Parts: sequence; C-alpha cells; structure tokens
Amino acid sequence: MQPTFEDAVRLSRELENADAPAVLQWAISNFGRNVALASSFGAEDVVLIDLITKIDANAHIFVLDTGRLHQETYDVMERCRKKYGIEFVTYFPDTSSVENLLRCKGPNSFYESIENRKECCGIRKVEPLKRALNGKQAWITGLRRGQAVTRVSLPKVEMDFTHGGIYKLNPLASWSEEQVWAYIRANDVPYNALHDDGFPSIGCAPCTRAIALGEDVRAGRWWWENPEQKECGLHVKS
Ligand code: ADX
Ligand code: SF4
Repeated sequence: MQPTFEDAVRLSRELENADAPAVLQWAISNFGRNVALASSFGAEDVVLIDLITKIDANAHIFVLDTGRLHQETYDVMERCRKKYGIEFVTYFPDTSSVENLLRCKGPNSFYESIENRKECCGIRKVEPLKRALNGKQAWITGLRRGQAVTRVSLPKVEMDFTHGGIYKLNPLASWSEEQVWAYIRANDVPYNALHDDGFPSIGCAPCTRAIALGEDVRAGRWWWENPEQKECGLHVKS
C-alpha cells in the first residue's frame, strides 16, 4: 500500500530523535533494494556512504553525473569505489536533450537567466533523477537544515509526491556542519579535495565557486542568484 502524507508525518515524529544509523537501518530493513541513496559526493554524502555500507555492504547508491562535474568529484567517487568496493549507479542526461540545448543556447546558457539555469538543471539533474527513482519506494539524501534558508524546516522523513508518493529520508537533517566533519575525520572517510579549497557546497563546476571567510555555505552555488532561488529542482515539492 502506498504511504500517505499522514504516514510520513507520524514516521517523522517517531524518527525525529533517532540517530542517522537508526534511520538508515529502518530504511534498509523496510525497503531493501527499493531504497536508494543519492550521492553527489559532498561532505554529507560521503558520511552517508560510510554509514550505509556499514549496514548493507551492497546498498544501492546512485549519482547523477550531469556531465559538468569537477574532476575532484570524480576523484572522490573513485576513492569511494575502492574503499567501499561499491559500483555506484550512474545516471547521465538524455543525449539528444543536451545536444539540443547546446545547439540552441550554447554551453553557458545558465548564466543568462534563471529560466535557462533551471532548463539546464532540468535536463542534467531533474530528468535523470526521475529515472533513478523509477520503481523505488524510498530515497535518501544528505540534506541538512543548516544548509540553506530553503531547508530550515526539513523533516527527517517526508513524502515525495513529485516522484510518485515515495518516502524521502534525510538522516542528517539535524546534523551541524561540525558534526559532519567530525565524522569524516574520525572515520577516515574520503572527501572531495575542493572542500579544502573553500568549497563547502559542491555542485557542477561552472555553477560552483569558492566562498570567502564568513560567507554563507551555499554562497558559492549559483552565486549570481538570490538565496531563495538556489534549488536545482531535485528537492522541490509539487
Ligand atoms: S542541490 O539541489 O543544491 O544541487 P545539494 O548539492 O545541496 O543539492 O545536495 C543535496 C542532496 O541532494 C545531496 O546530499 C544528495 O543526496 C542529492 N544530490 C545533489 N546532487 C546530486 C547528484 N549530482 N547526484 C546524486 N545526488 C545528488
Ligand atoms: Fe547545468 Fe549548472 Fe544546473 Fe549543473 S548546476 S545542471 S551546469 S545549470
């Protein structure tokens, strides 16, 4: 039976005080291969990879390779492949959609308007995510409340109606940035080298820059846009 919004609210209450391993254990026990972890190999995601593989060495972990990622992101993916012995399930954008975009608007259209930026995210992230979640009952993200004004009231469990009314789990919702880094260091987790160069939040190469001391952690993402608009469409609610 498909979960309802009320199911998610009740579960969110039940799991609100559960720690991240308990949320992951709950997900694996309930959904097995039908739950997938979405990884962009940012700091939160490598923590989740470390945690989930301790519960299930064959956990289903997917990456949306937009075709515009940093080399450092591929490097940490490779280090994780070796350390955890995992094949990440990669999704790539639809070839003809990318070809059409490039032929009509060139390679850097995202700088020209929010519509163009959303169009590119739609082709390179949002449509591949739909395919990644096809047939899944739940997915897991590295979202945290402290990351952005758009995420302050993020629950640990929510319903994702955009992807057919499945569960969306955010086990690190209540973690601070310090907790994330303490976990990485204590467990010797591979992380993206860009984090040491002033990139707290990492997306595609042309849309991410380093931040200055004191700037917001997501100031380097789509830095030419307002904070209220800085979502790529992976996490919007319908
Ligand atoms: S975004 O919406 O601004 O791009 P952000 O980079 O903060 O998202 O990442 C939040 C979560 O979305 C990650 O922890 C991860 O679960 C998922 N995610 C983001 N980008 C990707 C990607 N390229 N592949 C897989 N999952 C991703
Ligand atoms: Fe395109 Fe930038 Fe969005 Fe990546 S983050 S999909 S390059 S607009």
